[in-house]
Order: sequence, then C-alpha cells, then structure tokens
Amino acid sequence: MTTIHPPEPFRIKVMEPIRLVPREEREAKLKEAGYNLFSLKAEDIFIDLLTDSGTGAMSQEQWAAIMRGDESYAGARSYSRLKSAVEDIFGFKYFIPTHQGRAAENILSACLVKPEQYIPSNMHFDTTDANIRARGGRPVNLVIDEASDPANPHPFKGNMDIAKLKAFIAEYGREQIPFGMITVTNNAGGGQPVSMENLKAVSAVYGEAGIPFVIDAARYAENCYFIQQREPGYKNKSVKEIAREMFALADGMTMSAKKDAIVNIGGLLCVNDEKLFQNIKNELILREGFPTYGGLAGRDLDAMAVGLYEGLDESYLSYRIAQTAYLAQRLNDAGIPTIQPTGGHAVYVVANQLLPNIPNYEFPAQSLGVELYREGGIRGVEIGSVMFAHPDPETNQWSYPALELLRLTIPRRVYTQSHFDYVADTLVKIKSRAKEMKGFRLTYAPELLRHFTARFEPL
Ligand SMILES: Cc1ncc(COP(=O)(O)O)c(C=O)c1O
Repeated sequence: MTTIHPPEPFRIKVMEPIRLVPREEREAKLKEAGYNLFSLKAEDIFIDLLTDSGTGAMSQEQWAAIMRGDESYAGARSYSRLKSAVEDIFGFKYFIPTHQGRAAENILSACLVKPEQYIPSNMHFDTTDANIRARGGRPVNLVIDEASDPANPHPFKGNMDIAKLKAFIAEYGREQIPFGMITVTNNAGGGQPVSMENLKAVSAVYGEAGIPFVIDAARYAENCYFIQQREPGYKNKSVKEIAREMFALADGMTMSAKKDAIVNIGGLLCVNDEKLFQNIKNELILREGFPTYGGLAGRDLDAMAVGLYEGLDESYLSYRIAQTAYLAQRLNDAGIPTIQPTGGHAVYVVANQLLPNIPNYEFPAQSLGVELYREGGIRGVEIGSVMFAHPDPETNQWSYPALELLRLTIPRRVYTQSHFDYVADTLVKIKSRAKEMKGFRLTYAPELLRHFTARFEPL
C-alpha cells in the first residue's frame, strides 16, 4: 500500500546545500570515525536523521522576530512577548525561560529532589533521569506493558500504567515522592503519545495523594495532535484547546523548546506554586541568568514566542505526522519492520528483525546505521546494545535490551518527501543484502554513555 503524502505547507526561500560525498570517501570517513556515526563531521552527511532536537528550520516570521530581539538585561520586550505566548498556550501562573530542557530539569530537581526519593513517570527521558539521579533521587518508569512490544498497535502506547502508579504510591507514600511526571510524547518509548483519558487518571492519582504533577512537554503539540486524531471526543477541538485541557491537569511543566517550539535553542519551566517559583528563580539566577532571560539572548526568546504558535499550526502538524508515517509506510511496504504505530518525531527500524543473523552482542542496529551511511550518506542513531547493554552488577553477565533499534529522527520542516523516498530506497537496497551483512566488535568503550565515543571494527 502506498500512502499519499500531503505536500509540504511551505516553500523554500533560503537553501542550505547538502552534498553526497563519493562512496570511497564515505568508506574512509567511517574508518576514521571508528565506525561511530557520532564522530562523523556534519559536512560529510547527506541526510542527517540523528535528532529532531534544535535541528528544525525556523520560519520567516521567526527570523523577523529575531531582528526584533530586545537585549536589555532585565525586563526586555522579548520576555514580555514570550510571557504572553506561554500564558496563552500553557496557562500556568509562573514561568522562567531556560537555555534548554535539561536546564529546566536541573533547576526543578535542585528545588525538589532529596536523596533516596522517587520520581515516577511513564518513561523519563535520559536527561531527566540523569538530573534526578544527580540529586540522589530515583527515577521510576511505569509505562503500560504494550510499550515494550514493537508490533502492538495500541494508539496511546505512551500511557502510564495506572494500577502500577497507584501501587507504587501506596508502597512508598507521599513523603518519598516529591513530584510525579509524565513525558508527552514518550521519546524513550518510540515517540508514542499519551491519551487525555490517561492524563486525567494520572492527574487524579497524583492529586489524591497530594503529589505535584509535572509534564515533560517537549513534544506536547504532536501529542495533542494525536489526541485530536485518535481519541474519541476530541475530533472537533483545536490542538491548542486540547493543549490547554492537558496543562490544566498539571501543577507544572518542563519543556525543551528545541522540539515543538521549533527553535535551535531554548527551554521553559512553568509552575503554579508561588513558593516553589521563588526557589526556582533563585536557582535560575545562580546557574543560568536573570529571570527575564534565563540563559538565552532576547532574540532567542522572540524566536520561541513565535515558534510556540507555529508548532501548534494544524496544517503543519498534519503534514509532519504524515511525513513520519509516510517514511514508515514505505519501509513497511518493503517488509522492513518498524515500531508500530508510527510515532511523532521518528521512525524506529527494528534492526534485530531485519538482520536476524547478527546477534545482539555484535550490534545489529549499529551495523544497519553504518550501512545506511555507507550506502546513502544518511545518519540515523543506534538505540540498542551499544547504547544500553551493561554488565549486571550482581552476576557480572552482560544484560542486553529487548530491542535493537535504528532511530531515523525527523527534523522539523527541513527535509522533503523526495529526501524520504531516498532514505526508503536506500534501506530497501540494504535489505536485499541483509543476509551478507556482518556485525561489529568494540575496540574502545568508556564505562558510561559509551555510544558517544566508542570505536568499532567490522567483523
Ligand atoms: C522528552 C525529552 N525531554 C527532555 C529533553 C531534554 O531537552 P534538551 O536536549 O533541550 O536539554 C529531551 C531532548 O531530547 C526530550 O526528548
């Protein structure tokens, strides 16, 4: 089946050239990089699907807003414009800008997390997880079981398991849980959305226990669009109305604005509690800057104020979600398995199913990622054993993740349908010789976060 893809709702005014370096050069660059795609230079990549974070294309309105940026140290006009957008869309009482999402997470954790305390969520993103741990806290993931089955077509696979959440709170109690979270959409679980029904249930459970509820809103607009499309009762509501309904359920939010606010840098932290906000401001001044700029330039605040509305535009959202679905459909039509249903910001190829002859300890998703660059100059990111395998501290045996994935992450408003046809055609070509492909052996690996700097040798 071939899906009809809606045309891009924009035309190109400024073009950035990209170049496919010759095949022999790609081979040499791979070798030089120790077969680690993070070590390649951007200029040697033809289509870069490493991340959707800060890689979007800003609009003419955002660039015009940048020229209006007010660089006054305190009380800048840019801050007032951002404040009015944030209040209009999210409706929280207080907010600060931050330089990106993890800065908001750091400040919130500094203010609320004490050693040995637990922070439940559907699934914490890795920076949230790390910021909680950095304060001695313990992040806990309570997503529904369907999330771990790549073929399960559940429409809201980012949902929290409400029974598990209730049982967790009953076991540990309010004193051990300074706040609870949920990530929309669930990046770590395949960009899968959370339903409004589930958000309401989560809010009620936290509320009854007296636990503040904080939303990780990096991709809230994509999540709200999925609610409009998939959840009964939301067809006739605008994405913005759905967003207001979602945030009215929470006591605060953190946001990496590098995703759904379509800026290259920026973040937000919003809360309703006045005392907490005072502490947040003090932390911000210590680490990031004065509360009316929060570690950003005035022009960045203006770009964010405009981008927040553009991220909610429904013609943009329908094109974006269809673009992701189009790439997945083209792969699925050719028998290439991807996580189902297709999420918002990325297509996740199930590499262990595509390359069943490469065992997990020889890194099938790494092998597929290297081959995709070798064949077509395309960069994806391995989310499998290179990233997550670790020795079990009890047994000293290696523990491997259930899935070996190659994530093809889609920057906003950057690539066109013909780029995605090229990506799909390249993967289909690779599939035809999947049986001959070999795995990799690590030649260097640091103990922590090894995927960034590891080096490999082909087997
Ligand atoms: C769900 C989620 N939360 C938080 C972050 C951290 O944001 P940043 O990269 O802006 O620090 C990310 C970044 O990818 C994310 O996907």
